[in-house]
Amino acid sequence: MEIGLDMEMFQYTDKVMEHFKDPHNVGQIENPDGVGKVGNPVCGDLMEIQIRVKDDRLEDVKFRTFGCGAAVATSSMVTDMAIGKTLDEAMKITRADVADELGGLPPVKMHCSNLAADALHAAIEDYRSKKKKG
Ligand code: FES
Repeated sequence: MEIGLDMEMFQYTDKVMEHFKDPHNVGQIENPDGVGKVGNPVCGDLMEIQIRVKDDRLEDVKFRTFGCGAAVATSSMVTDMAIGKTLDEAMKITRADVADELGGLPPVKMHCSNLAADALHAAIEDYRSKKKKG
């Protein structure tokens, strides 16, 4: 969906608009410790989250998405929420936590918020499985 149009069609909170207009932690990490990629079955959009781990904590988290404005805002928020947390704490960040932190999302856009939390969890699982293999 065309992003500008998307953001005009739905009622978003100021917090969502803030993160959409000026998203935090966009990009890639050089030699990331873990990568999580998920596709949204509802709209087909994609999300990638990369993490840097130090002493069992998320030292850095970055995202790239082909998703809509709500996906950009939720990813920006999830990266902010995750940086500095332990891996276990970050695994507990739910889709609903992210939407709450943004002051809510329009119901038709809730599926977009799934991408960010799922990709974060996938990146942590990727890191853990690589570590196990040593
Ligand atoms: Fe695809 Fe929002 S419409 S992520």
